[in-house]
Amino acid sequence: MGLVPTMGSLHEGHLALVRQARSENRVLAVSIFVNPSQFGPSEDYSAYPRDMERDLALLDAEGTDLVFAPLAEEVYPPGYTTWIDLPNMANRLEGEHRPSHFRGVATVVAKLFNIVEPDVAYFGEKDGQQVAVIRRLVADLNLDVQVRVVPTVRETDGLALSSRNMYLSGEERRAATVIFRSLSRAREMWAGGERSAEVLRGEVRGFLEGEPHISAVDYVSIADPDTLEEMDSVRTPAMLSTAARIGITRLIDNVVLA
Ligand code: PAJ
Repeated sequence: MGLVPTMGSLHEGHLALVRQARSENRVLAVSIFVNPSQFGPSEDYSAYPRDMERDLALLDAEGTDLVFAPLAEEVYPPGYTTWIDLPNMANRLEGEHRPSHFRGVATVVAKLFNIVEPDVAYFGEKDGQQVAVIRRLVADLNLDVQVRVVPTVRETDGLALSSRNMYLSGEERRAATVIFRSLSRAREMWAGGERSAEVLRGEVRGFLEGEPHISAVDYVSIADPDTLEEMDSVRTPAMLSTAARIGITRLIDNVVLA
């Protein structure tokens, strides 16, 4: 059985995971659960887009055998108190700006694995830190699930598909292409021989800050994709990642230097 964990509001990025899982397993399960514990108090949990009917129709068309869509009170019943924390990995990058986010992700993914009991689970490269956290979780807790990672699906102009892209105004949507352009530029510099992580990070940050719709750059990182440790001199593989705000919408993206 293959499991694709999602928070619904499905787009072609999610469907790439679903299609790969469909082609590699006899039974295809997809979970749809907007996990409250991975949202911070000032984040968009209640505003997060939800459209169960549309999602079920899309999953049906892909030949999904089983959809698991629990209620929040089923996943976190009264008295709930057990959490999985990976402090060394969860406090960097996204974690610095979203404290307790990965505690929520690790806990819910472990619960989904225990409930659905898949043989294989599929995650998107788009959320690079999430992949690192889940690989570590599976290894550390001896979870009997294989993790497969699916490449990032992008719009033709490079913007990574995300449920949060629908928050962008027309102008912001056009400006949002700066995120992937900035990462691609640094990747080209790296391909041309630049090995200083500081120079490459500075290039991405400068390029992002040159776009007036970018209201904040939360971080630019070049890190080991497994340990998430920041590099001084680029060794391969390296994950070049960033989080930036366009207006009030926060978007993340990454490319691998390999
Ligand atoms: P969600 O944001 O719904 O994403 C579900 C899966 O789809 C994740 O593995 C994510 O990396 C992948 N995905 C999203 N956009 C993608 C894109 N453009 N290309 C490829 N894959 C993409 O990530 C979560 O939900 C949650 O944290 C979850 C793992 C379900 C735990 O609650």
